[in-house]
Amino acid sequence: MLGNFSFCTPTKLYFGDESLNDLNRELPKYGKNVVLIYGGGSIKKNGIYDEVIQILSENGKNVAEISGVMPNPTVDKLYEGVEIARKHQADLLLAVGGGSVCDYAKAVSVSVNCEEDPWEKYYLRFEEPSCKTLPVGCVLTMVGTGSEMNAGAVITNPHTHQKIGHVFADEKIMPRFAILNPKYTLTLPHYQMVSGIYDIFNHICEQYFSGEDDNTSDYISEGLMRSVIHASRIANKDSQDYEARSNLMWAATWALNTLVSRGKSTDWMVHMIGQSVGAYTNATHGMTLAAVSLPYYRYIFPYGVQKFKKFAINVWDVNPEGKTDEQIAAEGLNAMEAWMKELGLVMNISDLGATEDMLEGIADGTIILPGGYKVLEHDEIVKILKESL
Ligand code: NZQ
Ligand code: ZN
Repeated sequence: MLGNFSFCTPTKLYFGDESLNDLNRELPKYGKNVVLIYGGGSIKKNGIYDEVIQILSENGKNVAEISGVMPNPTVDKLYEGVEIARKHQADLLLAVGGGSVCDYAKAVSVSVNCEEDPWEKYYLRFEEPSCKTLPVGCVLTMVGTGSEMNAGAVITNPHTHQKIGHVFADEKIMPRFAILNPKYTLTLPHYQMVSGIYDIFNHICEQYFSGEDDNTSDYISEGLMRSVIHASRIANKDSQDYEARSNLMWAATWALNTLVSRGKSTDWMVHMIGQSVGAYTNATHGMTLAAVSLPYYRYIFPYGVQKFKKFAINVWDVNPEGKTDEQIAAEGLNAMEAWMKELGLVMNISDLGATEDMLEGIADGTIILPGGYKVLEHDEIVKILKESL
């Protein structure tokens, strides 16, 4: 049965190859002081930085910058950004980049007026903000996380080997607006493009592989997965195909803007294990998911075989005739494996820098969530990780 739920995604989206112009509609809604937040310099190379700066100056904004936000942003970088935003008396945080930059802006937003240590408050105690937060806007340049239309913010503490995501309950933490120009994603290296594609796909899996009921969300998920597989094959052959890249961009937003999890349970264990791998290796997010997915799904599918059978038939067009449910489910996962290899995804955590002596620590750092088909024990996580070495 569809559970009770609320659904609210207040982010205003502007989509298309001219969408940066729409920044002109949004900027007048906020005060003069803007903090521009970006990563390691890709936006300077591809010209997006100059375009954004010009629009900010035409709108009379007083701009400070936080640059060098790294993939998997760290808690130390967060403290640095909070100081800059405080000093500048920011009215708006404008994130220009991928999920890391966008997540980071949200983490700064909830920390600027907070007297407590944000790592302890939000990432260890999972509290909600009890202070005034700052509005965040986003110009997206990398597709995958869905951060442009959700309230998630993942921060890494390299000192303690913890990578933790907080999905804030208040939709006010979602970006107030997001500019999605598929053209901006055309300069992504192939490795980042396919990593993002797998991130999208796995977000859908995490929300699909749970529950036994007949749920509209699962039908939407199957459609989204088919679209991602189709567009990914085109983009993998020709990364400059605008149609495929724009479909991927739009699918990414819907994959994690809370829609397909409404009224149902969710799993999220691939992300929990992948994040812990990331805390030890600082590897690219989507690749950590790719490396642990198949060992995990092959381990749990006997506990949720009907959904894995549905996945095989409805997503991968497996012919069910004359086969047992288990055989059909296994064929679906084989088809998924072939697709992952076709994209060139990393299939083993050892290729991301993980070594056998890290496995206990990675398992210890994995947050165990109860929503999937099997609640994992510590030793089961170690077993899954060993399969991926
Ligand atoms: O730093 P720059 O120089 O900009 O380079 C970036 C970075 O090295 C580069 N890049 C981005 N756009 C580009 C580009 N290079 C060329 N052309 C462009 N147009 O790509 C690299 C990766 O960027 P990053 O933002 O780190 O990638 P992604 O979007 O995958 O974000 C990963 C972070 O998001 C978190 C992850 O854990 C990780 O910390 N996630 C956030 C979620 C959420 N908010 O809901 C959910 C996800 O599951 C995920 O956990
Ligand atoms: Zn993800």
